[in-house]
Amino acid sequence: DERTFVMVKPDGVQRGLIGEVVSRLEGRGLKLVGAKFMRIDQDLAEEHYGEHADKPFFEDLVGFITAAPVFAMVWEGADATRQVRRMMGATDPAEAQPGTIRGDLGLDLGQNVIHGSDHEDEGANEREIALFFDDEELVNWDQSTEGWVYESAEF
Ligand code: GTP
Ligand code: MG
Repeated sequence: DERTFVMVKPDGVQRGLIGEVVSRLEGRGLKLVGAKFMRIDQDLAEEHYGEHADKPFFEDLVGFITAAPVFAMVWEGADATRQVRRMMGATDPAEAQPGTIRGDLGLDLGQNVIHGSDHEDEGANEREIALFFDDEELVNWDQSTEGWVYESAEF
């Protein structure tokens, strides 16, 4: 299945929304294959957001993403990149539909809680995964739902 890079941004971490974001992705049926709590340094921030280097908001964006820890993750599932983007909602939380992560949890364009690889940017998911994670930090595992949901079920 496809893998995608997702991150709870500094505002989400500070506001205690890591669990909420993880919960929504788990609930959807996506499989977590990697996660780490980390601080993004200046170099990583400039590389991650390199596509916006010429934009007037670039300095603010880099300043924001390096200002506090983030929770970086890799999620796997059918059409994972596009499905996570759909769950995130529009870039500006003020325009994002209620029911989406940004539409439910944010109000400000510059502090929009979550990042997910862009499905319209071919290969962005694989590039971002490689930027944030070493291969050995990703876990290949079979998720057996039945046996772990009901105590009486057989494993
Ligand atoms: P990311 O998941 O963070 O990449 O968001 P996105 O893919 O939905 O949006 P995009 O890549 O176009 O922009 C990256 C980030 O820059 C956004 O998440 C916003 O926080 C910020 N941003 C985008 N456009 C503007 C803008 O016009 N002004 C400001 N201040 N910030 C912006
Ligand atoms: Mg983007």
